[in-house]
Amino acid sequence: MKNKNLPLSQVYRLLEPGPVVLVTTVYKGRQNVMTMSWHTMLDFEPPLIGCVISNRDYTFNALKTTKECVIAIPTVEIAGKVVKVGNTSGRNIDKFKKFGLTTLPGASVKAPLVGECYANIECKVVDMTMANKYNFFVLEGLKAWINPTQKHPHTIHHMGKGVFVVDGKIIKLPSKMK
Ligand SMILES: Cc1cc2nc3c(=O)[nH]c(=O)nc-3n(C[C@H](O)[C@H](O)[C@H](O)COP(=O)(O)O)c2cc1C
Repeated sequence: MKNKNLPLSQVYRLLEPGPVVLVTTVYKGRQNVMTMSWHTMLDFEPPLIGCVISNRDYTFNALKTTKECVIAIPTVEIAGKVVKVGNTSGRNIDKFKKFGLTTLPGASVKAPLVGECYANIECKVVDMTMANKYNFFVLEGLKAWINPTQKHPHTIHHMGKGVFVVDGKIIKLPSKMK
């Protein structure tokens, strides 16, 4: 079979990591939430998470200024809301109210947890030396919460252009990786 050229502009669609997450912040006394799919684990413990948050997003300045956020991990049941949150800026509106998402208080940051999400990670920014050049922030997870009632959470994974893969079958292999 002959391989076909893939435009470089489409490479992100192959490597885009999952799951799609929500990022909450509090800035100037207002809570906000955005959708993010460009993130990566950088270390185990404490968990370090690298993420790309565009300087066009209202969240960018919120994060740069307050240095705090929550990463909330949604499941397929609320995928529609997650995409709407990612299609709308919270600069002038309350997205929690508009899209029917519940805020819950965290333990170590002012940013709220998202009640509908199966996991929430309270984070502080530990490195933003690449924020101006790449919109890249390094977060440290300070506290993590999991909803024990959601036994088989099916996360959503972005493939670009409104296409998502829903996490499904689990396989186990003898991997040496932690
Ligand atoms: C599926 C999906 C994934 C997204 N991933 C990212 C991302 O990784 N980084 C980013 O800066 N914006 C991402 N966005 C766009 C932001 O969520 C969007 O610009 C949002 O309106 C920003 O909200 P804010 O202005 O309230 O901060 C994504 C949107 C969708 C729908």
